[in-house]
Parts: sequence; structure tokens; C-alpha cells
Amino acid sequence: MRRPLVAGNWKMHGTRASVAELIKGLRQLVLPAGVEVAVMPPCLFINQVVQGLDGKSIAVGAQNCAVEAAQGALTGEVAASQLADVGCSLVLVGHSERRQVLGEGDEVVSRKFAAARSCGLVPVLCVGETLAEREAGKTLEVVGRQLGSVVEALGVGAFSQAVVAYEPVWAIGTGLTAGPAQAQEVHAAIRAQLAAESAEIARGVRILYGGSVKAASAADLFGMPDIDGGLVGGASLNADEFGAICRAAGS
Ligand code: 13P
Repeated sequence: MRRPLVAGNWKMHGTRASVAELIKGLRQLVLPAGVEVAVMPPCLFINQVVQGLDGKSIAVGAQNCAVEAAQGALTGEVAASQLADVGCSLVLVGHSERRQVLGEGDEVVSRKFAAARSCGLVPVLCVGETLAEREAGKTLEVVGRQLGSVVEALGVGAFSQAVVAYEPVWAIGTGLTAGPAQAQEVHAAIRAQLAAESAEIARGVRILYGGSVKAASAADLFGMPDIDGGLVGGASLNADEFGAICRAAGS
């Protein structure tokens, strides 16, 4: 049985004051026991969030890490080892906003994935197609390439301690959500691709859906056989809404 995971990606949002408010709201949530919950604040608030959520069973993650695992001379970057040192347990790699806006390619994403694992962080590999790619019938090809490049570089064994997040780019921040059946088709293809290399790893890996997940849409999505939770953007900035999404993953 895969334990559902709901992770809140705060993206580039927050001030010390708003983060303090959000922590207060998160501390008050009643969370379902069977669901793993995580939040991913901007790097400069990680310390505040780790301390603020002390004693609450919410993990803290980062939104990105450097290609190099160890600290060193790489101006502006943060190493996976430093993230682990401040209390992170997971990290996003290959989010579409970084692929698209910052030009991160598959090779860089694989290196970040490897760096995260080498420091004991769980990498959450984000994959997903643009609207143009979907309309051209290329969804499974694009997602297959993004996933395949990491499998090729690091081997399927790298997914024994990893999470995949399917986030169709056209559904991110747009209010458009992939329908449960539409998402399930891609999740099943992701699992099948991993199963071609290792049935055991494919069975265990959690595949999250992301893209305008709200409390109202969460239960139907999480009810699909290959959707093991969610990667939540905008709705994770509201503690009550986020809590409702976490509860939907537990029902
Ligand atoms: P939204 O939930 O705001 O669409 O963002 C999804 C996302 O990109 C999470 O990583």
C-alpha cells in the first residue's frame, strides 16, 4: 500500500509575517494519520518553518537544489546537503516553472535528482506537458522523455526513494484541472514506464498530481488508482484549504 502524500509548494510567496500566520494555521490543522503532509517554503523561510512546525507532523521540503550535492563555490545556489542540514526531507526537481522560465533541461534535472538522493533527501521529480504539446497529442511522449532521462542517467533504482509529480503545465495556476480520468491515464503510463524496468519499484513509487488542486477537486483525483496524492500550489497558501485537501487524501 502506498501512503498518500500531499505537499504544498509555496513557490515565491511569503514574507516573515505571512509565513508566521500560515504556520499558525497549519499548527491548528487536524490531519489524517495515514497521509504524509509536507510544505515547501521559499528557501529563506525554511528555518522559520522548521522551527515553527516543531512537534507537528508536517515535513518541510525545498523547491530546488543545486546540481552539486556538497556546499562550495556556486554563487546563489543552495546545496542539497545544506537543505538536509536545516531540516528538509524532500526537494522538488524539474518544476515546470524552472524548466520553462530558467531553461532547466533534463540533464540538469537528473543531476539535481542525484544530488538530492545522495544527501538523503527525497526528490520529487516534476513532469508535465504544455498545452501545445497536449493538443499535438504528445503528452505521453513528453512525460515519457522527462521521466526516461532520469531513469537512463541514474537507473530505475534511484526511484526507490523518490516521488514523481505529474503537473500538466496548462493546469498550473490557471484554475484548469486535468480531469481524474485524464490524469489517471498519464499516471498509469508513468508507472508502466517504471514497471518495464522494475515492477517492485513501480508498485512502491508515489505519483502525485499537481495543477490547480483545490479541496473541491481533490477527492475525485485522489480516488484514482495511480494518483497517490497531490502537489498543491496556490491552495497551499491557505491553511484551511490545504488541510481539507490533506483530509481528502485520507478518505
Ligand atoms: P497551482 O496549484 O497553483 O496550480 O500550482 C501547482 C504547482 O505548480 C505545484 O507545484
